[in-house]
Amino acid sequence: MSDETQTRSKPRRQAVTAAAEIEEEHKLDLSLRPRTLRDFVGQERLKKILGMSIQATRARGDVLDHVLLSGPPGLGKTSLAHIIARELGVNFRQTSGPAIERAGDLAALVVDLQNGDVLFIDEIHRLARPVEEVLYPAMEDFQLNIVVGKGPGARAMPLAVKPFTLIGATTRSGMLSSPLRDRFGQHFHLEFYNRNELAEIIRRSAHLLKIDVDGEAAAEMASRSRGTPRIANRMLRRVRDFAQVTGAAKVTRQVALECLELLDIDKCGFDQMDRAILSAIIEKFDGGPVGVESLAAAIGEERDTIEEVYEPYLLQEGFIARTAKGRIATQRAYNHLGRNRQGTLL
Ligand SMILES: Nc1ncnc2c1ncn2[C@@H]1O[C@H](COP(=O)(O)OP(=O)(O)O)[C@@H](O)[C@H]1O
Ligand SMILES: [Mg+2]
Repeated sequence: MSDETQTRSKPRRQAVTAAAEIEEEHKLDLSLRPRTLRDFVGQERLKKILGMSIQATRARGDVLDHVLLSGPPGLGKTSLAHIIARELGVNFRQTSGPAIERAGDLAALVVDLQNGDVLFIDEIHRLARPVEEVLYPAMEDFQLNIVVGKGPGARAMPLAVKPFTLIGATTRSGMLSSPLRDRFGQHFHLEFYNRNELAEIIRRSAHLLKIDVDGEAAAEMASRSRGTPRIANRMLRRVRDFAQVTGAAKVTRQVALECLELLDIDKCGFDQMDRAILSAIIEKFDGGPVGVESLAAAIGEERDTIEEVYEPYLLQEGFIARTAKGRIATQRAYNHLGRNRQGTLL
């Protein structure tokens, strides 16, 4: 088996710390998803600006400017898109970049929208180019250019559509073409959550799921959630299972710690793959700099997954740094793995 097939047939990060959405947890996610801006924990600046826009738009009876939401997986982009539609009191239509195969599919969606409706396109950086081009006049002038006829006799006929709000979500705003990016009136980048915010999210979810979690346990889980609400919620569910099976009436810090140890999540919230990345940079590439392709090959993970899922948090927490020549391991990474600069164990 080639390296390539090995990488592909391997199940994608099923661990608790996988920030990407796992299919079977979709329903549970729905039950925990905040429904209003007030329920949405953290991201204070974003909430203030967005709340103001929504209020002013409603007061004017207007249509909200197109919104671009960017940031790593699991930080609340989809939740926010739903919240925006709900607070505007409009219909919500959802699709995703890779799901729209032909320009006509998108045109059909847009034609169906009512005045002021929200059209949510997840993973918008993965839209095919011809599909993207349908969006330009639709976003700018609420107009579709329908092509009638074929060959040299083909003509574009403008078709007016109802004013709508496009909400795009992306984990890679840098991969968006600039004509598309420029057509969004508002761009919000979601930041990783701090420990207090994550503890609040865990308490809220525990309440909704009727799990008895004490403050110390919530704090411990919060500090190991990689700044990501989806991970915090998933961890909470695993801890609940653990408590149930071991007969613990309540989730205390001790119960949480035992469960996290079993799941192999360390005190920084890193799992085996995070540690594999750090130790590969240190051991195989002498601390770097190493390009992402070589790193991906060394650990048998896909390049995109490294860039979208793992790296953002390792960068933000200062375990790796990006230079013009590639990624390097920082002193923190050496400390975390208990290694000195020669890469040998201390
Ligand atoms: N700010 C928040 N407050 C409370 N829960 C949140 C928040 N952001 C995300 N979540 C939780 O995390 C889960 C994943 O969020 P989601 O909106 O699907 O993230 P994304 O679309 O960015 O990947 C949601 O189901 C919700 O339970
Ligand atoms: Mg999403």
